[in-house]
Amino acid sequence: MKILTSPSLFASDLLNIEAEVKRTEAAGADMIHFDIMDGIYVPNISIGFELLAAVRSATNLPIDAHMMTVKPEKYIERLANAGADIITVHNDIADEASILEMIEEIHNFGLMAAVALKPRVPAEAILPFIEHIDMVLVMTVEPGFSGQSFMDMSDKIRKVKSYIGTNPVSIQVDGGINEKTAAICAEAGANVFVVGSAAYKAPSMRDALSAVKTAAARAYPL
Ligand code: DX5
Ligand code: ZN
Repeated sequence: MKILTSPSLFASDLLNIEAEVKRTEAAGADMIHFDIMDGIYVPNISIGFELLAAVRSATNLPIDAHMMTVKPEKYIERLANAGADIITVHNDIADEASILEMIEEIHNFGLMAAVALKPRVPAEAILPFIEHIDMVLVMTVEPGFSGQSFMDMSDKIRKVKSYIGTNPVSIQVDGGINEKTAAICAEAGANVFVVGSAAYKAPSMRDALSAVKTAAARAYPL
């Protein structure tokens, strides 16, 4: 699978969002990670649809809406209209059948679908969805805030990778990712790297992202 970086805009300078989006593009990012929180699923409220539409108007990079919310099914159409390319929902916000319905609806809008697992959720939880999704997000922090310390989820990533087998499904990691932690995750099989603080707070975002990519490519199993 291709090694990709996805800077998490929530960790950027939100006062200068247009400049931050341009900086993200110029730094060589492959996509943009857009964190949506509702204050219910996670103890924080972040950024929403209008800002997503504004970001869409400023870039052609694919945008991944990471829905840290209950009832994300209510917002699939709005996310599609606002310009999301990928919608990521957490597995523990509904039962299996409902998540499968959400995945189908996301695909019906022509978008890619991903399912996210919080640190405490076991790898096995992805099994019912694996053949229906484009990406698995293995969280490497408790969702809710940028700038938290990385939690090593290597064993879980390895299991998810073995469940994926030869299906064309990416494994994304999110939370505390930098050059060092990206290598740990890549070695276990992750190929998409959400980078928040380590990208936007770095002296050079371009160097930070290319360091993540190089370290990950070196560690990724052939
Ligand atoms: C956390 C969010 C992350 C966060 C990543 O709940 O899902 O995307 O912004 O930021 P860092 O890389 O600083 O942990
Ligand atoms: Zn996120």
